Amino acid sequence: MNARIAVLASGGGSNLQALLDYFARLGDKAPGSVVLVASDKADALALERARRRDIEALFLDADARRDLATILAERQITHVVLAGYMRLVAESVTKAFRGRIVNVHPALLPSFGGKGMYGHHVHEAVVASGTRVSGATVHFVDEVYDHGATIAQWPIPVFAGDTPATVAVRVLEIEHQLYPRVVAELAAGRITLDATGRVRTPHDLIAFPHFVGSDEAGAADAWPSPQEH
Ligand code: GAR
Repeated sequence: MNARIAVLASGGGSNLQALLDYFARLGDKAPGSVVLVASDKADALALERARRRDIEALFLDADARRDLATILAERQITHVVLAGYMRLVAESVTKAFRGRIVNVHPALLPSFGGKGMYGHHVHEAVVASGTRVSGATVHFVDEVYDHGATIAQWPIPVFAGDTPATVAVRVLEIEHQLYPRVVAELAAGRITLDATGRVRTPHDLIAFPHFVGSDEAGAADAWPSPQEH
């Protein structure tokens, strides 16, 4: 299977970059490629990152957001990856891509999720709450903000001296390790959503960095690589 992936992003696109770099490292073993990057912000750095790799970069105005299902169908997109996309995706898209559309959220859902909980708002709420743990959650996308079935979660500590900005940096580092690996497994067809809404996978995709080594190489070793199956 050669997945044709669309990434939706509103901002800097560091998760998009991590995904592009990871798939580039996989080379011929990559289960597909990113063929479209679309953004609701005309000046999103994510669009520039796409252009640098000769990937189609598309600004989504209100009309295009409404017609997104058609735009994706025209390009024969097989999977949709939300990477810092700050809008609710049209129901026509979430329904058409059920089990093939994912999001990364910068906290451990179901805590600190829902409407208005995005980007720095999440980290501000985390620090204000006094919790000592946050992290990243990768989940399937459905019609409700941050609601779909959880695929994988990695935790990070929240230290006494942390600010929302320092928590954000730590979470992003985890996202960059976790998200590309989940997307690769999804694109390879090894993560699915069954009819009852349960995540199906031959692997236990919940990994803890302190068990597998916190450096990227260590974490990568602990993950099934697509070519091993
Ligand atoms: C990431 O931390 C992502 O989890 C978050 O926005 C950031 C985007 O960073 N997404 C949300 O808050 C969605 N609810 P990036 O543009 O550098 O990838």
